[in-house]
Amino acid sequence: MTSLDTVSVAVDGQQFHPEAFPLVYALQTDGASIEDTRNWIASERSRLIDELAVSGAILFRGFPVEGANDFDAFIRAFGLPSFTYQESLSNAVRVNRTELVFTANEAPPDFSIFLHHEMAQTPLFPSMLFFCCEHAPAKRGQTPLCRSDILLKQMQERVPEFVADCERLGVRYSNTMPGVDDPSSGLGRSWRSMLDTDDKQAAEARLTKLGYSFEWLEDDTLRATTPKLPAVRTLVDGRKVFFNQLIAAFRGWKDARNDPTKSIAFGDGSPIPVDSMQVAIDLADDLSFDLAWQTGDVALIDNFLVMHGRRPFEGQRRVLASLVADDGTRLVA
Ligand code: FE2
Repeated sequence: MTSLDTVSVAVDGQQFHPEAFPLVYALQTDGASIEDTRNWIASERSRLIDELAVSGAILFRGFPVEGANDFDAFIRAFGLPSFTYQESLSNAVRVNRTELVFTANEAPPDFSIFLHHEMAQTPLFPSMLFFCCEHAPAKRGQTPLCRSDILLKQMQERVPEFVADCERLGVRYSNTMPGVDDPSSGLGRSWRSMLDTDDKQAAEARLTKLGYSFEWLEDDTLRATTPKLPAVRTLVDGRKVFFNQLIAAFRGWKDARNDPTKSIAFGDGSPIPVDSMQVAIDLADDLSFDLAWQTGDVALIDNFLVMHGRRPFEGQRRVLASLVADDGTRLVA
């Protein structure tokens, strides 16, 4: 087995809580192959996963990962259970490149994707995310990353009543889905794709089983409201996280079918205070680390601990993604 030399390096804007966020491993070995990389991951994986659970994000820089097939091999070396787009209730339009790898949200370049925990607006969410930069954009296009445990602590100082209401009441999300995929929208996935059926009765049966309420609207659109979901969760190590989709829904669930002011409510249907949401948004913005992509970068993100988003960009940007299924060991509530 070939062993690779890697070194922890600093990147602009890196944070220390006191652990580095993100952790960065830079490859020092010249001429390493993807096979060498797979062997290195296989021998280091348990340490890397442990470090991820503390820090929340690891950036792998300078590894020989060129395109979707290499990225697929990189992911497989971790031996983690995969979470497929097909079974997910995500609202983003995506295109699969390999069995495990798909394009990150296809939303237009000038569109911000605001901070969120992946699929926290649904009862089915991944535990980790892999991203791989296949082509870095000419300008901007960073992936902001925000530690959700630290955000929650700061919110407890600034808006304690809001945090208490989030914990006590939970949240519900509503959105209107088109009949066919609409790639012009960040939440343009059709109900046919999301619910994996063409049949309206089968769609209703799946939603009912998941605890959603729903209403068919004109133009073949479907408005669905989630069951009450927790807005704050507790990790097995005792840390509490602001694990929800409130910021992204409040700021960004806007298209021809959706009005963000109608996208979120507390679990009892009462309105979520706008001024408290603004405090959460400002704190999260201040806490964000911007991952400025270099072609070939791979990032591994703990979806329970860290929110992510996407800055607008110019030029071509191709970031691939893959999701890891939750094995049920990380959340206690
Ligand atoms: Fe996402």
